Amino acid sequence: MDLFEYQARDLFAKHDVPVLAGEVIDTPEAARAATERLGGKSVVKAQVKVGGRGKAGGVKLAATPDEAVARATDILGMDIKGHTVHKVMIAETAPEILEEYYVSFLLDRANRTFLSIASVEGGVEIEEVAATRPEAVAKIAIDPIDGVDEAKAQEIVAAAKFPAEVATKVVNVLVTLWQTFIEEDALLVEVNPLAKVASGDVIALDGKVSLDDNAEFRHPDFEDFHDRAAANPLEAAAKAKGLNYVKLEGEVGIIGNGAGLVMSTLDVVAYAGEAHSNVKPANFLDIGGGASAEVMANGLEIILGDPDVKSVFVNVFGGITACDAVANGIVQALELLKSKGEEVNKPLVVRLDGNNAELGRNILTDANHPLVQQVDTMDGAADKAAELAAAAK
Ligand SMILES: Nc1ncnc2c1ncn2[C@@H]1O[C@H](COP(=O)(O)OP(=O)(O)O)[C@@H](O)[C@H]1O
Ligand SMILES: [Mg+2]
Repeated sequence: MDLFEYQARDLFAKHDVPVLAGEVIDTPEAARAATERLGGKSVVKAQVKVGGRGKAGGVKLAATPDEAVARATDILGMDIKGHTVHKVMIAETAPEILEEYYVSFLLDRANRTFLSIASVEGGVEIEEVAATRPEAVAKIAIDPIDGVDEAKAQEIVAAAKFPAEVATKVVNVLVTLWQTFIEEDALLVEVNPLAKVASGDVIALDGKVSLDDNAEFRHPDFEDFHDRAAANPLEAAAKAKGLNYVKLEGEVGIIGNGAGLVMSTLDVVAYAGEAHSNVKPANFLDIGGGASAEVMANGLEIILGDPDVKSVFVNVFGGITACDAVANGIVQALELLKSKGEEVNKPLVVRLDGNNAELGRNILTDANHPLVQQVDTMDGAADKAAELAAAAK
């Protein structure tokens, strides 16, 4: 989960990484009071989860509270690389910036370790520096057990050739930034720029943090970081029902049991779709091993609620949960939805195979639901579902 800059700023502050004051607002008028609280001037910063905001015009200085309102008016609603600005941070203005550095910690999956990246040539051109002069960017592996203590931080400072007069301060930033990284279970913490200002202090002026979703269970406060405005409503509804669902851009709704089977179902449907107006799978949904009627009903409810879906492919391989239980689940799910007043008006193609397939197929045949048809093979069923979706497109 990627955080907004203001959230990263708050985490940095919590771990004593030096940052400036800032508050987040979502109306232009609120920029006035916030700027007054900062002594009458501020920096108005677009809060979007994408880099290069400065270059895109999303970071502006305001010399007065009135100017802050004007800049917030410009920036709120702006589109930055496909991200609409809904919030801005009103930040304290850094005293005269003399130099801009770059520091980060990240998980280096390829090398099974952590990595520190540091450069004295930070700022808005860091990508350019990394591409054209890689020697100006130091990369130092970090032992996950030892972490970053003062000695390790000094090693990073030396490798990146930080000037002697800021060495101690940068060491302090690196140690506190590392604590943020470890204690918050982050996958990435990045400061760009880490600014050296006229007083000689170094301050994190921009922060990027990506948290490890797998660690959410031990961070109840992560809950506040979820960006509900950006979340897909179907994915949010599925999550609330405990379903493993990912929305895709296609027309064939998919339900399967087991992540591997669902993944291959997506491939088979995409392939079959090539012959039917290029229809594609509309989602990933794994209802897992024990497909009870309720889980099936929840899954169908989400998928049928997707206006893009034109047909549904239920692909089940009976294992521990046998096909007759799944078939009963489908029949009951359709009844459950009907009793809830939810209209089921999209064709369902069901393929049952594996444990008790014959029994399961008989249950569906007997139920004789007008929208359900069975195809015995995965390829055949995918083709049928694609054909039905194309016809309804
Ligand atoms: N609080 C601030 N005070 C003064 N200058 C700032 C402040 N925040 C950012 N800047 C300047 O704006 C530039 C871009 O801002 P930054 O927050 O890094 O956004 P981005 O990386 O998305 O362009 C920085 O490199 C810095 O020079
Ligand atoms: Mg930046």
